[in-house]
Amino acid sequence: MSKQQAALIQALGAHAYVDPEIFKAEQNLVFASTWQYACHVEKLASPGDYLVCEIATESIILIRENDTTINAFYNVCPHRASRLLEAEGCKKRIACPYHAWTFNTRGELISAPNAQNVAGFEISNYRLKACRVETLHGLVFVNLDDDAELLKQLAPEMLSDLEAFAPHLPELTFVHRTEALLECNWKVAIENYAECYHCELIHKELTGGVLDMDSYRIQNFAQSQKHLSGSQSGEKRVYAFEDTSATDFVAWWLWPNFSFQSYPGGRMHCWNWTPLAVDRTHLTVDWYFPSPELADWERELIRHHAATTFREDSSVMALVQQGLSSRAYESGPLMIDAEKSQYSEHAVAAIQQLWRDAMGADNE
Ligand code: FES
Ligand SMILES: [Fe+2]
Repeated sequence: MSKQQAALIQALGAHAYVDPEIFKAEQNLVFASTWQYACHVEKLASPGDYLVCEIATESIILIRENDTTINAFYNVCPHRASRLLEAEGCKKRIACPYHAWTFNTRGELISAPNAQNVAGFEISNYRLKACRVETLHGLVFVNLDDDAELLKQLAPEMLSDLEAFAPHLPELTFVHRTEALLECNWKVAIENYAECYHCELIHKELTGGVLDMDSYRIQNFAQSQKHLSGSQSGEKRVYAFEDTSATDFVAWWLWPNFSFQSYPGGRMHCWNWTPLAVDRTHLTVDWYFPSPELADWERELIRHHAATTFREDSSVMALVQQGLSSRAYESGPLMIDAEKSQYSEHAVAAIQQLWRDAMGADNE
């Protein structure tokens, strides 16, 4: 189709980013029915290791049962609803803090005080409510939708790249978290992540000293997106890296709010955007390295990323959220360039279509 014939694609209306009712509906229609990143397997290394995390406003317990199985349960007692655990630790038994009903790591009730004297009470009738959990190459994901498709089937291209770009990921160790409380809706943040139309203007060091923008490509898949770029040559690099077998930048985003990246030099980090309010999003970037003892260039990579690209995006996203609340704005055109994907907003269009599919026509 020629440029003249193609119809412009219009971005999602501003109300999708500012309406608290839509934000509430997204918890069910988007976050409770998609794979949500919980942690690296390092957090659940031994039987009984557990971690409590929040998924779609629900408190969820992840607990390792044995060498091969990690279970996920709603953090609610089937007796009279008390929360069971908080934070993280290691327990072979989960004892409720209210009346001491006690569960094993499979979620089965194994004791309840005075149960033998209560007519009609059967211990085997009670257990913690489970939810879906899947471990992909060292990354643990949870899904509150019992009917969800297996994650490895939803994003097979992402999985094979994860194994190729980060072959040792399951054995890597957490070294640093870069985080921010973003003053914007979660979709503003992931749409910003999905395009590099803004990169040369906003990220001078990234585009001049890390990436080779001529080689940058952004590719859509069914529920994921891939960014791939070569890196700047030696003398232009803003940080020096030693591993010349990993010179590319690669990023994979998974619908709706997770991504992993590897920067030139082959250092992995996982991104997770947690929506807190219609105009507030918590972004965490967790870095996983081969050793907790950082080399100078690894320390410089983390510092440089936080001080440039990460901070620059945080500022511009706040500006977008302010404009979305204006009565002067409803929606603008997405700048789709089929030839130059590094300057195109086709991945934003794909995200907005996934959102429309999840939310249904009533919320458009
Ligand atoms: S609420 Fe948990 S034992 Fe009573
Ligand atoms: Fe950016």
